[in-house]
Amino acid sequence: MNKNQPKNAYQGGAEEFKGFIRLSSNENNYGPPKNVLTTIKKKTKYSNIYPELDGESLRKEISKTYSIKANQIILGAGSDEVLQMAYAAFTKPGDEVVFTKYAFAMYDIYAKNFKCKAIKFNDKKFQFNLDDFQKCITAKTKIVFLANPNNPTGSIFYKKQLINFLNKVNKKTLVILDAAYCEYIEDQTYADGLNLVSKYPNLVITRSFSKIYSLGGLRIGWGYSQLKNIAKMYEFKKPFNVTRLSCYAAIESLRNQKWLKQSVKNNNDNRNYTLKKLSNDLINLIDTKANFIVLEFTNSRTAQKYVDFLYKNKITVRLLASYGLPNFVRMTIGTKSDMKEAVRVSNKFNV
Ligand SMILES: Cc1ncc(COP(=O)(O)O)c(C=O)c1O
Repeated sequence: MNKNQPKNAYQGGAEEFKGFIRLSSNENNYGPPKNVLTTIKKKTKYSNIYPELDGESLRKEISKTYSIKANQIILGAGSDEVLQMAYAAFTKPGDEVVFTKYAFAMYDIYAKNFKCKAIKFNDKKFQFNLDDFQKCITAKTKIVFLANPNNPTGSIFYKKQLINFLNKVNKKTLVILDAAYCEYIEDQTYADGLNLVSKYPNLVITRSFSKIYSLGGLRIGWGYSQLKNIAKMYEFKKPFNVTRLSCYAAIESLRNQKWLKQSVKNNNDNRNYTLKKLSNDLINLIDTKANFIVLEFTNSRTAQKYVDFLYKNKITVRLLASYGLPNFVRMTIGTKSDMKEAVRVSNKFNV
């Protein structure tokens, strides 16, 4: 790469995809279903036409799918952008924001961009107690970010814990519940939070089409909250922030809930397969309820060697050093054949 090329603060997964098994970016390796691909092909001819200003058609479809209010939805170029709009709308320089130490990297990157003071709760045990987390929240806290389940640690909270938490947080503090992986969770005691929005005026939910819906390359996500919050975020929404094609694809993918169910099943089956078959004394496996598992090594050198070894075997996984977890590697759950190959290669790994 040209050394004068400006660098993004976010360190993403590997770029490689041709000839590689990608297990580095928590994508859905089955790809979009047929009806979505057909729609994308059919609709490319409208690429000359600007998108709907406020994405009405997609917001209506989201509203129908989840029985929520269309005017309380805001679309973003990925949920990333919804998070950015929340920062823009609700913080000023010097404000405090709270999240966990091993949280999704963009919370911190935006904190720096918006000159906020990031208070990080040390969630070093991968699953933590919300009461402990709560202690980081003070009268100065403007926004709390909580991914449920969390990437990259997989920590997860269930409805009761969440409600208990929301009841304790001052209503002047915004709680952003990042539910990028919520569709993977089948446990009935889990809540994606959408139904809690009417009760909690300080709750914002963010959702993504990049994970189970398999549209990461099209950059589409959304946020949901009470109207006054969404209206504030709209002040910072670029008029044409999501593309026409992304909206068509997202609408079509919401209409294929049968495929979605199958994707959850595939993920569960392939994750269980991996946990059962991946057996190497150098690797400790940490399960999550999302579309990835975490591999723990005794030291960072072995973790790096493992990533390099997989790369040589045309598999990309994610070293978590940039998250402050140098002994850990995140492995996305791919297709059955992806996982067979990942298991085969991992079991051969030696130092
Ligand atoms: C917890 C979490 N939130 C948000 C995102 C952003 O997703 P997107 O902007 O693709 O919707 C990710 C992506 O990896 C994530 O892991």
